[in-house]
Formats: sequence, C-alpha cells, structure tokens
Amino acid sequence: FDIKEKFPDGFLWGGATAANQLEGAWDKDGKGPSIADALPGGKERFAIAGSQEFDWQLEDEKYTYPNHKGIDHYYRFKEDIKLFGEMGFKCYRFSIAWSRIFPQGDEETPNEAGLKFYDHLIDECLKYGIEPVITISHYELPLNLAQTYGGWKNRELIKFYERFARVVLERYHSKVTYWMIFNEINSAFHFPVMSQGLVPSNGANDFTNVVQAWHNQFVASALAVKIGHELDEQLQIGCMILYATSYAYDANPVNQYANLKQMQDFNFFCADVQVRGKYSQSTARMLKEHNVDPANLKITAEDLELLAQNTVDYIGFSYYMSMVTDVTREGSDEGVSGNLIGGVANPFLKSSDWGWQIDPKGLQIALNELYDRYQKPLFIVENGLGAKDVVAEDGAIHDDYRIDYLKQHIEAMQGAIRDGVEIMGYTPWGCIDLVSASTGEMSKRYGFIYVDLDDEGNGTLDRSRKDSFYWYKKVIESNGKSL
Ligand code: BG6
Repeated sequence: FDIKEKFPDGFLWGGATAANQLEGAWDKDGKGPSIADALPGGKERFAIAGSQEFDWQLEDEKYTYPNHKGIDHYYRFKEDIKLFGEMGFKCYRFSIAWSRIFPQGDEETPNEAGLKFYDHLIDECLKYGIEPVITISHYELPLNLAQTYGGWKNRELIKFYERFARVVLERYHSKVTYWMIFNEINSAFHFPVMSQGLVPSNGANDFTNVVQAWHNQFVASALAVKIGHELDEQLQIGCMILYATSYAYDANPVNQYANLKQMQDFNFFCADVQVRGKYSQSTARMLKEHNVDPANLKITAEDLELLAQNTVDYIGFSYYMSMVTDVTREGSDEGVSGNLIGGVANPFLKSSDWGWQIDPKGLQIALNELYDRYQKPLFIVENGLGAKDVVAEDGAIHDDYRIDYLKQHIEAMQGAIRDGVEIMGYTPWGCIDLVSASTGEMSKRYGFIYVDLDDEGNGTLDRSRKDSFYWYKKVIESNGKSL
C-alpha cells in the first residue's frame, strides 16, 4: 500500500503532432489529397464544412488552405527533431499521412516515396534516442474515400484501412513499439468530418451513419491490433479518445443523471468497445435517444468476435478541458466552446482565449475515472494551451501562461500517481507550433518551439525556442521534479 510519489522510471515525456497539421507538401512525391487538405483556414472552418453546400473543395479563392503548407515539416523535419532532441524528448507522437502511402486510399500497392519519408523520420528520432509513437490515422482520411465511398459509414473502408495499417506495421514494427489506431475516435459525436469523413452531403446529419462509421472503425481497429500483435506481441497498441471530464452543474439528481449519460456516451462509449472488446450496456439506451434503430446497423457475429479477441494494450487520450452538464436551466447559460464540443460555463474555471475551460484538477479526476474503469495503463497523448504568442524585441517568447498551464497539469498527473493510477507518458500537443485542427489558424499556438508563420501563410518559417522550451527541458531532465 505504498504511495508512489514520483514519476516512474522510463516515463515517456515528449510531444505530439499530426501529419496534416505540420508536414505541408500536400501534393508532393505522390501524396494524394486528404480531407484535411479540403478544409479552409479560419474560425468558420467547421461551419463551412458543416453546411449543406460543402463539397470538399481543394482550392477556392475565397479561402486559404493552411494544411497544404503546414509548417513545412516535410522538408524541415531534421531541424525539428533535433530541437526535440535538445529538449530531451523520450518519445515523439506523430501520425502517418494515409494519403502519402495510399494517395487515393483504395490502391493495391503503397507509394514508396511516402514510406521513404517515414523511414527517414523514424530514423531521425532514433538517432536522438526518441521513441516514435505513431498514430495510424489522425484526421487525414484520403479525400477519395470520403468523396467516392462516402467516408467511414461505408464498410469498404475497413479493407483499405487494414491494408494501410498492415503496410506501416510491417515496415516499422521492428523500430516502433508504441502505436495508436484512430485519433479521438469519439469526436465524431459532435463533428464527424475529421474522424469519419462525414459531412452533410454524405450523411453526417443522420446519427445512424455516425454509429455505423464507428462500428466500421472498431472493426478496423481490431484488425490493426491483430496484425500488430501477430507481428510482435510486445507491440503496445492503444486507442485514443478525446476525454473531457464532465460535471453535473449542481446536486439536482436530474443533472447528475444527465451527466452520467454524458460520461457514458461521450467519454466511454468508444473506449468500452476498444478496451473491453464489447459494446457496453448503455449503448441500447444511447441509440434509442438518438433515434437509431439497431436493425439498420450492419454488425456481424464475426465482427463481434474480432472485437472481443483484439483489445488495446493501453488507453491514449487527449485532455484539454472539462465540461458541465445542465439540463434544468435551458437558455440561462453562457455557452463555452471546446475541441469539438461545447457546453455550459463552469463558474469556478477560467477559459483560454478560445473559450476552452482550463481545469487541471479535471485531469486528475479523468485519470482516476479511466483507471478505475479499465485498469489499463494510461497515456496522456495531448494536452496544452492554445494561445497567441508575442515575439519580444530581442526575439524571445515569454510564454509563462503556457508554462503555468502545463505545470498545473503535470501536478495533477503527480496527484493521480499518488492516487495509484498507472501513467505511461505525457506528450503535450503541438510541441512545435502547427495549424489548428478546429480553426486552421497558425495564431492558435501550443508549441515549445515558435514557427514564424501567420494565418495568411506569410513568414520565414524560422524556428525559435520559447521560454517554455527551456522549462520543459528541465522538467524532462528531472523526471518531473523541477516544475
Ligand atoms: C485535438 C486534436 O482535438 O486537439 C488535434 O487531436 C488538435 O489534432 C488539438 O490540433 C487541438 O485543437 P485545435 O483545434 O486547437 O488545434
């Protein structure tokens, strides 16, 4: 019954990114377009993609397309990995752009030039003793699979994902131990464009399609786990969910019950399937409340067997903020925003400039809740503060607000370790400034490393170290003691 006070030896300190948000080179060396390449920059990004007229335009003079250029990491990855090495990263979470490997998504053979890029990226990480952590699919479905096949609601995509996963797992399993199957798989609850390739014109407004898409993704996930474990049973293959601790607004049992359902549906529905290998008991209730008739879903006995046999090894999750559930005071709240979710404002919390409620204690609660429920190692694979940075006259960036945010969240992790929770690692989001997923802005920055690039795509692309860079280096050096 000893209380653990310290971060464990071998704790995976690092940072996280996604191919579509930093690589750029969107049409180079055989890469095909992904859905991210069709999303315009700016705060109205989701509103545009959520409109009936949206039709996956890749170039429209009304808009900018910041993912096309990213931060030019495709050509500058050596410089970037070197900086991660200088910070002492133990691991680096990145994703493989599916459409770099299978440009249209449905080819039989992969694009060798795309694979070469990841050969070099992985080798560069290993050169600095950085363990690669790969997300197989992070909001970057090949565009053709959304346009021609209608996105993840189409079962055909299972086969294409399986082929993609097999290619990358076979190629890299001897160099890469840690894998994640789908980024924030539950985010489709509120906005299925990025994780499922569903927009109104191909069925996003019918929740049956979203649930069918999830099921197809669960089957695809199980196949990836199976392939990975057959190649090497030591591989660690995790799920990845968007976790938002949710509180009932008050002690009113009606709100408490509504919040319980919010937790079951948003935070746990996907993880239950991927971790426990079966749909949880609350699924039938959730489907009924969303007017989904189970008879309209295609779920086979073989699928269920596959899910049961191929569960994940760990739980990866992103944590930025918490939520509040209130079903009793309709119209009385000021709403807040968040990563693909929204809700009622919590009077005890402050928000970021983008309206995301900052709640480190909520992370400690999340870690306890997830560990109580699943008893699997937890990996915080995203966390951070999106903020506007100002470059001082001498070129320095004094981002004490970011240090403060991260420090409080690391303290919350320490608290959870004392509570007995098993945590594998921590990879703050956007360790180098990159294009925002929800708004396509560059000015919403998360990095320890500043990139000279603005929302219109102007800038030298030069990299520089923020104050948080030096701070995080010490955190890693001291294994979390020096905060
Ligand atoms: C998560 C995503 O939702 O949050 C990332 O996995 C994303 O891709 C991150 O960038 C931060 O969100 P945003 O919208 O501020 O970029």
